[in-house]
Amino acid sequence: MLELKEVSASIAGVSVLRAINAQIARTSTAAIVGRNGAGKTTLLRIIMGFVPFAANGSVLLDGKDLARVSPHDRPRLGIGYGPEDRVLFPSFTVEENLRFPCEVIRMPKKAVDRRMDEVLSIVPELAPLLARSAAVLSGGQAKMAVLGRTLMVGTRLVLLDEPFQGLAPVLALQYTEALNRLQGARPELTILITESNRRLLKDIPTVTWTLERGAMTVDAKGQRSAKPPGVVSVPAGS
Ligand SMILES: Nc1ncnc2c1ncn2[C@@H]1O[C@H](COP(=O)(O)OP(=O)(O)O)[C@@H](O)[C@H]1O
Ligand SMILES: [Mg+2]
Repeated sequence: MLELKEVSASIAGVSVLRAINAQIARTSTAAIVGRNGAGKTTLLRIIMGFVPFAANGSVLLDGKDLARVSPHDRPRLGIGYGPEDRVLFPSFTVEENLRFPCEVIRMPKKAVDRRMDEVLSIVPELAPLLARSAAVLSGGQAKMAVLGRTLMVGTRLVLLDEPFQGLAPVLALQYTEALNRLQGARPELTILITESNRRLLKDIPTVTWTLERGAMTVDAKGQRSAKPPGVVSVPAGS
């Protein structure tokens, strides 16, 4: 479970997040919806340890205080982060981009190979792209590659920042299908997706939070399960 306790942050002297409290259960896909500038990216970057927040707050993953884990060690805990701007290394192939975060945390090659096979079963659209240079991908293909790279390390917590922004409908459908396969393949995983347009997420989240004027509230209505049959979803806060 991911827990945010009293998380407050200011950027350039302006308060962006005010005492955010949230519990996001394992085996759930949570969405954070908020307009541009609401603080969605800031919140994900706080979870990754890239942005400081007020000292009275905390971020816990399965009870472990992430303040004790440096940002570059967080992928080792199984935390994967897909930023909104698609940051792939253009001089690497897609496959090299996918393997890179595993190599950074010195995962043995056999384990990386197994991870690659699993990720390709979740995002099969990546298979024909593996040998291509990341520089020649379309925007949508790059978003799929960023999803794959995020899943290479994200076995416990996956953070995806506005993945549907700018995706053509056919790719948005493939992306949604990949997320549904992901829930089936890794039922223990917590998935956190941000979005400014809640309609883009209509088939995905099990729970939706709204981020507005620095405060985050859970939507009581409209909770739905997109999980395959047999997988029980646990609402946030349980
Ligand atoms: N590097 C920065 N310098 C100044 N202001 C920033 C910076 N990054 C974000 N902000 C401000 O912080 C607020 C939250 O931004 P952000 O987390 O990017 O929102 P979102 O991802 O929801 O669009 C916005 O008002 C934005 O202008
Ligand atoms: Mg953002």
